Amino acid sequence: MANQVESRKEPVPVEVADEIEVSLDQLGGWQKTTDCNSLRVEDIGSEVVLMGWVQRRRDHGGLIFVDLRDREGITQVVFDPQISPAAHQRAGGLRSEYVIAARGKVRHRPEGMTNPKLPTGEVEAAATELLILNTSKTPPFHVEDDVDASENIRLRYRYLDLRRPKLYHNLLLRHNVARLTRDYFNGLGFIEVETPVLTRSTPEGARDYLVPSRVNTGRFYALPQSPQLFKQLLMVAGFERYYQIVKCFRDEDLRADRQPEFTQLDLEMSFIREQNIYELMEGWVGRLFSELMGIQLDLPFDRMTYARAMELYGSDRPDTRFALPLTDVTAIVAESDLRVFKQAIERGGIVKAVRVPGGVSLSRKELDDLIEFVKIFGAQGMAWIKIQPDGWQSPITKFLPEPVRNALAERMGIEMGDAVLFVADQPKVVNDSLGNLRVRLGQQLGLIDPAAFNFVWVTDFPLFEWSHEEKRYTAMHHPFTAPAEADLDLLEESPEKVRSRAYDLVLNGTEIGGGSIRIHQQETQARVFKALGIGEEEAREKFGFLLEALQYGAPPHGGIAFGLDRLVMLLSGSGSIRDVIAFPKTQKATCLMTGAPSDPDINQLLELCIKVECAQKK
Ligand code: AMO
Repeated sequence: MANQVESRKEPVPVEVADEIEVSLDQLGGWQKTTDCNSLRVEDIGSEVVLMGWVQRRRDHGGLIFVDLRDREGITQVVFDPQISPAAHQRAGGLRSEYVIAARGKVRHRPEGMTNPKLPTGEVEAAATELLILNTSKTPPFHVEDDVDASENIRLRYRYLDLRRPKLYHNLLLRHNVARLTRDYFNGLGFIEVETPVLTRSTPEGARDYLVPSRVNTGRFYALPQSPQLFKQLLMVAGFERYYQIVKCFRDEDLRADRQPEFTQLDLEMSFIREQNIYELMEGWVGRLFSELMGIQLDLPFDRMTYARAMELYGSDRPDTRFALPLTDVTAIVAESDLRVFKQAIERGGIVKAVRVPGGVSLSRKELDDLIEFVKIFGAQGMAWIKIQPDGWQSPITKFLPEPVRNALAERMGIEMGDAVLFVADQPKVVNDSLGNLRVRLGQQLGLIDPAAFNFVWVTDFPLFEWSHEEKRYTAMHHPFTAPAEADLDLLEESPEKVRSRAYDLVLNGTEIGGGSIRIHQQETQARVFKALGIGEEEAREKFGFLLEALQYGAPPHGGIAFGLDRLVMLLSGSGSIRDVIAFPKTQKATCLMTGAPSDPDINQLLELCIKVECAQKK
């Protein structure tokens, strides 16, 4: 902090700026010999040329110390007037983020001056020569990992932010994930095929980004939400094993783990079943963890049906690092005298509860906060009970007759010192609110081991979900997902009961991958479109090419796509997906550095025959 303030006040010294005319030609015999992170005691006595950025300059008793940083790390360079008066004098003008080259001899740091926090902390380079390759304006924030500048400032000056070791290492990890991924799939006979970016809408449940076509006036391409249909067509084309590390685009509300453009590891295989995909992906994830993190994962990963995940965790992305399971107590509390429970049940709702061991210590204020929290997810409220030595303490105790209490205690394994939290409502609201409450309690009560990596495959998703907005069934995964064979007969009469052959891989409560076995027969695809309320004409208009291709010998096939950014975010322990993307967008889908999206040139609009009319536009 002190340094930041100090460096902001520093004027750029003119006499030094005059000295920076070092062209690469003039660099002549100067060749960077050593990374700033690599000097060790063994190097003492050797001459090195270091090049990088001035992290910090300190003047001490006639000596000038510079922490010189490059992408690999930091070395201390000391300028001693006894060794080189010229270099020392020039070093006096160095400021933060100047780019320099220093020639010098490696020596031991004096007694008491070593820095055990730095790998290079036992040595320093005593400079014999200094070149200033470029000056820098005073940066808007000090380039270091515990930076205190706001994220907006850092995104505006992203190229400075990326100089921070943490971000560099995140991107290095990302590079290594991509490298190993290519290695793994290449080794198994997969081929990487690029698919179009200017294409038609691919329904993955988000809004499309549209691109106007100049040569086809008034018509638009959609950027792909995923390469889903193309990879299926590659299977029809007989490619058998495809993969791609590919950009996808989705215009949706952004969160800490979502970006409008993100990267998938996308793959598809022919002649396979679910088990093949599970084993393939477990092998890949296992290798990433062992080679990049030195962690041997327990394989195979656990599996859980969607129904079980919803029952126990209220979510299809269960965080299995801690317990706090939900219990359906509808049948038990139906016998209580509590109106909110009874009314919810009468309206077709359910009542679920979470037992919080040691929860008696939750204060009234903490309970009130939890009540406000569940309201975010649509719950009307939350009832609670504390199990105290002198009995059940709660505003609702008097409405719970003894047999109900006994049944609850037995069903939930209630013990002295517990708190039990209830929500009564429609199943979706109950699961959403208690599922999120569970995660919040896990964090609040310190139940989550931050070093744990818990994977779970979630399987047997329903094929459809009812959309209240659209008043029709929508595909839970996407419309090309195969129904479970045993449920095919229910497709017309009871679509809500049909399970799909979709699977998600969840890591620590985040969905990192999802895929399915696909429909490979045209008749089944037509039946699913029908169940989705997509008429024959609409199906032909939107997906005619797929329906047609399915008639030309489509093999059975399936695949999966992983969110590469999300995976790297979790591997690197980053709190935000933006920390693993070189040039990310803000929560409002803007780029603070380039200013995208920007107003188009009027001539571009004229050429495209587009007139922008928007109520919100100034
Ligand atoms: P799905 O839509 O589940 O499946 O996406 C696959 C994975 O992509 C990641 N993901 C995202 N990551 C960052 N920002 C986003 N906006 C975003 N949206 C999705 C998630 C998710 O698990 N075509 C199918 C795959 C298939 O069926 O093979 C698909 O795209 O980690």
